[in-house]
Amino acid sequence: MTKLVLAADHGGFELKEIIKNFLVELGGYAVTDLGTNSTESVDYPEYGRKAAAAVASGQAERGIIFCGTGIGISIAANKIAGIRAANCTSEYLAEMSRRHNDANILALGGRLVEPELAKKIVKIWLDTPFDGGRHERRVKQIG
Ligand code: RB5
Repeated sequence: MTKLVLAADHGGFELKEIIKNFLVELGGYAVTDLGTNSTESVDYPEYGRKAAAAVASGQAERGIIFCGTGIGISIAANKIAGIRAANCTSEYLAEMSRRHNDANILALGGRLVEPELAKKIVKIWLDTPFDGGRHERRVKQIG
């Protein structure tokens, strides 16, 4: 079972719930949900940091985080050492974030990405391996 962590603010809560159910349907994932658990307003930096800390510490292999646009929560997650969070709005971005950047967190905008597209983005992001090679050197340079 691949260990995944999910986290969202209120702007991403509904999409987080949809993706959580989708991951259950896909099977093979042990999902930890760090909240938030409603549409009541919360601050996205806390949720981005919590998910990033879980991935950076190895508690989870990868994370999927959500806010209204995916921007704020990905910026927050990227402040944690070892995190490469990519805010993706297309399947192409999701694929390339894995192949070239070895992204360990996917960010999605709950007010931006329709659920059916979000599911496609999540699937390709989870299924695509890192290309390594010349990209390995560049990813190390980020660190
Ligand atoms: C909250 O209203 C909104 O600012 C947040 O979800 C996110 O979009 C920030 O980047």
